[in-house]
Amino acid sequence: MIYPLPAVMVSCGTSPEEYNIITIAWTGTVCTEPPMCYISVRPHRHSFNIIKDSGEFVINLTTKKLARATDWCGVRSGKKYNKFEKMNLTPEKASFVKAPLIKESPVNIECRVTEIKPLGVHHMFLAEVLGIHADEQFINKENQAFHLDKANPICYSHGKYYELGNFVGKFGFSVQKKKSGMPTGKKKPYRQEGKRLIISKSGKNRKDER
Ligand SMILES: Cc1cc2nc3c(=O)[nH]c(=O)nc-3n(C[C@H](O)[C@H](O)[C@H](O)COP(=O)(O)O)c2cc1C
Repeated sequence: MIYPLPAVMVSCGTSPEEYNIITIAWTGTVCTEPPMCYISVRPHRHSFNIIKDSGEFVINLTTKKLARATDWCGVRSGKKYNKFEKMNLTPEKASFVKAPLIKESPVNIECRVTEIKPLGVHHMFLAEVLGIHADEQFINKENQAFHLDKANPICYSHGKYYELGNFVGKFGFSVQKKKSGMPTGKKKPYRQEGKRLIISKSGKNRKDER
């Protein structure tokens, strides 16, 4: 009943023959420093052993454009299909892990599994975030702010996919005295690589107290 949440496409596999994509809704951030997240996967999924054996995966955020692929990868198994080919998605080399990034996704999060916790029908893969790729077209060059909303992200609620709704307020607006739309913190340490940017893992001068 904890909805809405993101429906992400998790890519995995260490070679092109093994590459696969599984759609995951049971996912989230669990720690800011060190940056950590989780995905929960049922053991009979084709992706389960791939992720377990390789100890790696990539979380790819999804958009309205990717909605069909997101759903399809969540109802078809890699046992039968090459999901990259079927959905016309492009596997791209990651920086830290062997699992591929999905090029068409606006944000790719490279993860290394630190612990597998059997919970019940799902096993939770706790993972350390090694690097993040953010599509440059959504980064404001002047203030380095990342505008994921411009990528039309989708979320998942009670079996349905939705776009984001209207803007309601920003973090801390409830206690803010002066109106100010501009970010005040130092710039994030981005590292350029090809068409994309990698936000470095350390994120040293990042102020995020959530
Ligand atoms: C929106 C959505 C969310 C899903 N979330 C999860 C999840 O969190 N964990 C899980 O094990 N399966 C989840 N699934 C189901 C798998 O994605 C699905 O069984 C998929 O076909 C498995 O692919 P694979 O056999 O290639 O690994 C979800 C499916 C959809 C459509």
